[in-house]
Amino acid sequence: MEKTRIAIIGTGGIANAHMRAYLEIPEVEIVAGVDIIPGKAREYLDRYGLTKVPDFEDTEEMLKVIKPDAVSVCTYNSAHKICTLQALAAGCHVLLEKPMSITLDEAKEMVRAEKQAGKILTIGFQPRFDANSKKVKEIVQSGALGDVYYIQTGGGRRRGIPGRTFIDKDKAGVGALADIGCYALDFALNTIGYPKPLTVSAVAFDYFGKNPKYYPEAERFSVDDFSAAFVRLENSCVLDFRMSWAMHMDTTGDFIFLGKDAGLKVQQPHFELWGGAWDGPIGKITLMHDVFGKPTSTNIPLEKMEKSNLFYQKVKAFVDAVRTGGEAPIPTSQIIYNQAIIDGIIRSAACGHEVEVDL
Ligand SMILES: NC(=O)c1ccc[n+]([C@@H]2O[C@H](COP(=O)([O-])OP(=O)(O)OC[C@H]3O[C@@H](n4cnc5c(N)ncnc54)[C@H](O)[C@@H]3O)[C@@H](O)[C@H]2O)c1
Repeated sequence: MEKTRIAIIGTGGIANAHMRAYLEIPEVEIVAGVDIIPGKAREYLDRYGLTKVPDFEDTEEMLKVIKPDAVSVCTYNSAHKICTLQALAAGCHVLLEKPMSITLDEAKEMVRAEKQAGKILTIGFQPRFDANSKKVKEIVQSGALGDVYYIQTGGGRRRGIPGRTFIDKDKAGVGALADIGCYALDFALNTIGYPKPLTVSAVAFDYFGKNPKYYPEAERFSVDDFSAAFVRLENSCVLDFRMSWAMHMDTTGDFIFLGKDAGLKVQQPHFELWGGAWDGPIGKITLMHDVFGKPTSTNIPLEKMEKSNLFYQKVKAFVDAVRTGGEAPIPTSQIIYNQAIIDGIIRSAACGHEVEVDL
């Protein structure tokens, strides 16, 4: 079978993780790099010794000249939609970085384009491949908790506002909520089978990002750094969501799943400044249940797994799906709900009351 020809669109920070993973897969050939900043794609390709692989500043032109089989879209969030639409229209499969988009309308447009193209569009949530995230899902799906009626996301960073394009409204669109909040949403929703969200009541703040005492680039900061929401889901389950890039606390709590028969507590591996965004490994899993009528806590042994491995697995799952004609490893049919909650949080925080999820 021929190699899968892949182009990277947006050659900034995370494009390096994509490249490292692709270079480990012998069935892949990197055929182009694109970045709107002149010289950036060239520098990126050269960094990996790909001096003969062409670089572009325009995605449309690259798609026309190179005709790749598939692309990784690694641009900042505000360019996710346009690059994904262009790639799908050119007949490419797409691995798109998280969050799927800024607005729900953008996500809906991408889903329509995906259906029209008949190609794979998958969203890059690598924590899905963590053995312990899978274990949490397995426990919940086994029915050990009974019906799950309440989930608290917990976690968050005490100090961890990123720099670069993450804090610009015109590039990232959303702050902590979309950057790391989308991971917490994916962990919660994927564990219980991605029920449809119904309503959202939310708040969002920017007290740290906008304060030069805490953040040196306060003048440039134009997104949220903390948000919390109460989300009603279709199966009578409630999601109590919190996420922070910065706060005067080590965590907003543990990740908990309350079921009618048992509960599950999932803890962060550490509570340091950047800890606990549910984008990495899990520290401890405890099943809280009654044994012969006595409340009992059972520690679930953890699987050992390297975080770096997760990125390879996400990229490999995409390549395998492309090569075998398989399904999207992380489908838009699920992630549209994640995006709908983010959209609901933004709208609810802006208007100051509960909103219906617009699906
Ligand atoms: N999965 C993860 O662990 C992870 C980690 C970090 C970032 N991300 C996601 O990856 C994306 C990029 O983040 P980053 O930190 O690499 O950002 P970045 O700003 O470092 O890089 C983005 C690059 O895209 C380029 N770009 C913008 N519009 C473009 C267009 N229309 N065509 C081609 N190139 C374009 C920019 O010039 C820039 O070089 C974001 O969506 C972010 O949420 C994911």
